[in-house]
Amino acid sequence: MMPETNLTAFDHASWSSQQIVDADASSVMHTYARQPLQIVRGVGMYVYDTQGKDYLDFTSGIAVCGLGHCHPALVEAVTDQVQTLWHMSNIYLTTPQANLAARLTEVSGFDRVFFCNSGAEANEAAIKLVRRYSKKKYGAQKGEILTFANCFHGRTIATVTATAQPKYQEGFGPLPGGFRYVEDFTIDAVLAALTAKTCAIMIEPIQGEGGVRPVPPDFLQALRAFCDAHHLLLIFDEVQTGVGRSGAWLAWQRIGVKPDVITMAKSLAGGLPIGAMMATEEVASAFTPGTHGSTFGGNPVAARAALAVLDTVMAPGFLEQVRRRGQQLYGLLCDLAMKYDVISDVRGMGLMWGLECKGIDAVSVMNACREHGLLVLTASGNTVRLLPPLIATSADIEKAVSLLDEAIKEVSA
Ligand SMILES: Cc1ncc(COP(=O)(O)O)c(C=O)c1O
Repeated sequence: MMPETNLTAFDHASWSSQQIVDADASSVMHTYARQPLQIVRGVGMYVYDTQGKDYLDFTSGIAVCGLGHCHPALVEAVTDQVQTLWHMSNIYLTTPQANLAARLTEVSGFDRVFFCNSGAEANEAAIKLVRRYSKKKYGAQKGEILTFANCFHGRTIATVTATAQPKYQEGFGPLPGGFRYVEDFTIDAVLAALTAKTCAIMIEPIQGEGGVRPVPPDFLQALRAFCDAHHLLLIFDEVQTGVGRSGAWLAWQRIGVKPDVITMAKSLAGGLPIGAMMATEEVASAFTPGTHGSTFGGNPVAARAALAVLDTVMAPGFLEQVRRRGQQLYGLLCDLAMKYDVISDVRGMGLMWGLECKGIDAVSVMNACREHGLLVLTASGNTVRLLPPLIATSADIEKAVSLLDEAIKEVSA
């Protein structure tokens, strides 16, 4: 028997803004420092709040809505798929997943893919794969993975341990073993962390949450050679940099250093949850039936959305345009840095940029931007972070920088 309740109909559509704020405050766990904004709609580069006020979105839902909001190609693909097939277990084949796997391996330069639902899960899969491969090939002692100061690899217990930042780990012990941290981007620092148990090195080619810090390409080159010399696997976490963000489909293709394993998520399905871990045939062979799995991974709706994203991003001229807009944004941000000495550095690549602030708080700049109708993010190291949708036009970039200019002027006055 169902218990009696006096809730007859749950009419959530007619809730007032205050009811939403109250329900969030009383019922959702307090893991997020919420911005005082309820977004109800998004179109292209803009989102709209409950009052109908528009905001130029330079966050893309933290590098997720790479094609902006409600892109017609995504709406069409997802609408068709939800009327066809939503879900089947991975013990059966589905067309969108197979199509996506074929396209993804082709454009990413890897032989095989494992599908999951998020960045942390993609990294978990990579951690499991490199350990299993290395134990089989080099012995049971192999299992340690090196990661770098300021990195971010996710919030699960293994990926938060991989994340070499105490603030993300505090209070969650005992943490699993098997990770050692490299102090800086030098081979000497890598050597200092290396042990006989090391099996892999995991790195973001551009650190995102850690402050938008591109790793020097010559260090990545040296790291590749180091891994080869020491029989280590190289994993690139491209959860944030992948799917066109760097100005190439994957940042490794722009930098010219190819890892053995790669992880992606965020904008792969443009706003639906998906993650992908890719590897060479040889490394992928360490996974056999039953060794890893996911209920939702590569779900038909998410896979169909990802196919639409992939087709759009890989269409002729798209990535060239991202690189061009990235150069434009970099130039304008450098002008801002010349104008305001509270900006101490401009870092990034493609359409992923950070403005390091000194003497003013990056959070205050973010809040002032919001008041002016521009959404931006922050990152570690007192950094304002810009992650516009990849569809940004020249006019969008100019408008965003002019709003940012006003915000910095106000905050630094
Ligand atoms: C580089 C990187 N790796 C992993 C993650 C974790 O992704 P998710 O939040 O989808 O688990 C993030 C999220 O910000 C990220 O930026």
